[in-house]
Amino acid sequence: MPDDRERARRHLVPHFTRGGAWRSDHLVVIDRGEGCYVWDADGNEYLDALAGLFCTNLGHGRSDLTAAAAKQMDKLAFYSNWGFAHPSSVEAASMIAAVAPGDLSRVFFVNSGSEAVESALKLARCYHLANGDEQRHKVIARNWAYHGTSLGALALTGIPSLRDPFLPMLADTVRHVPNTLGCPLEPGREARELECVTAVEEAIVAEGPDTVAMVIAEPVQNGRGALVPPEGYWRELRRICDAYGVLLCADEVINSFGRLGHWFGSERVGAQPDMITFAKGVTSAYAPLGGLIAGGALVERVWDSPVAMFNHGSTFGGHPVSTAVAVANMTAMRDEDVFAGVRGNEGRLGGGLRELMSAHGCVKDVRGAGYFYAVELMRDRGSGADLTEAEFASLLPGGVLERFVREARVLVRPDSRGAAMLMISPPLVADAAVIDDLLRRVDQVLDRLGGWLRALK
Ligand SMILES: Cc1ncc(COP(=O)(O)O)c(C=O)c1O
Repeated sequence: MPDDRERARRHLVPHFTRGGAWRSDHLVVIDRGEGCYVWDADGNEYLDALAGLFCTNLGHGRSDLTAAAAKQMDKLAFYSNWGFAHPSSVEAASMIAAVAPGDLSRVFFVNSGSEAVESALKLARCYHLANGDEQRHKVIARNWAYHGTSLGALALTGIPSLRDPFLPMLADTVRHVPNTLGCPLEPGREARELECVTAVEEAIVAEGPDTVAMVIAEPVQNGRGALVPPEGYWRELRRICDAYGVLLCADEVINSFGRLGHWFGSERVGAQPDMITFAKGVTSAYAPLGGLIAGGALVERVWDSPVAMFNHGSTFGGHPVSTAVAVANMTAMRDEDVFAGVRGNEGRLGGGLRELMSAHGCVKDVRGAGYFYAVELMRDRGSGADLTEAEFASLLPGGVLERFVREARVLVRPDSRGAAMLMISPPLVADAAVIDDLLRRVDQVLDRLGGWLRALK
């Protein structure tokens, strides 16, 4: 009987993974997890410094979450949210509404972040139809933002390598504008004058304001490396959207459920969106769940109009088991005051990464907030030299940087989209000792990278 690695090569098709990497001997089969650590099938321990994929927020091996799933399966394994409710979806929606910002009180459940974004697109459209604004269908999104892979969500995604193969299939109704990279609020300037702000208004005006349905942005953008917005940015997005009757959606698939030390990243950056999309951490990834939160007035407007319903749905949206896990997950996050731990330790993480930057000339920048950081890489900070194209290609994707990461046994994410970066996003239960371990392992990666770059000279 071939081992799992061999059977994976033969039968399992990986997501976003080059065939060459999958066929190589380095294919890692992750077998079990406990807290902030996972072990592969050969018994090697790794620090899960990406929380799976920005999602195992409470860490691995939580028997309270598995017990909640088993209990719900015994009681009612499935019923749909099409015309019916069940206690776990009601409880999960109520708990989310209780912690959501502003007047956001209505929750529509789906199974993933991409579906959450699709739902935001469609609810925005239904809302405008309900108001008789039939032309409103366009969306303003930001360069390098990742909003998912289904064709609607992919149209919003601003990462060329993900979009290009599918361009003929993508709706040409999305305008991408600059993100907040390199757009700081310098003393003496007002947020409304910033290029990353004026670009949003200019795009709405250029498209024709009465054709624009929605602006979508993450509070802290993942694509291009943990982009923390300048002070006042979200207040300006609110002002612009209000001025043109456009809905504002905060895509919080990563940012919510504690990643930035709060239930929602909107709290952290002072955003007042009309809709929030979420997924990932809502169940700490113990079961697939995503969703859309909207204001009561928005949903009621659709219901009370000739449109009459939110014309969208899926079999498993609001699945009883996933929503039961979400309830257990949120209960634990609240009772264990997990976000206070993030806020208390984020200085240790961010400060430690900045110290690594001082120690390693191959680090260009460290950005982030909460437990969500990017380390951007370059050839040599001293001389200002960036990586050459050939160096970049040897490092990423699937190159030597991945080897250095694997060998340091730290599952950070080598990211090649727009720059060479390491994305770091540990489980929220990572305490000071785990953060120190993470920093030690990242130090090793940077050491290896620096040595490799020096050897090329
Ligand atoms: C901001 C954002 N939106 C949407 C998605 C898509 O989520 P999913 O992979 O669950 O479809 C992601 C995934 O990482 C994301 O980061």
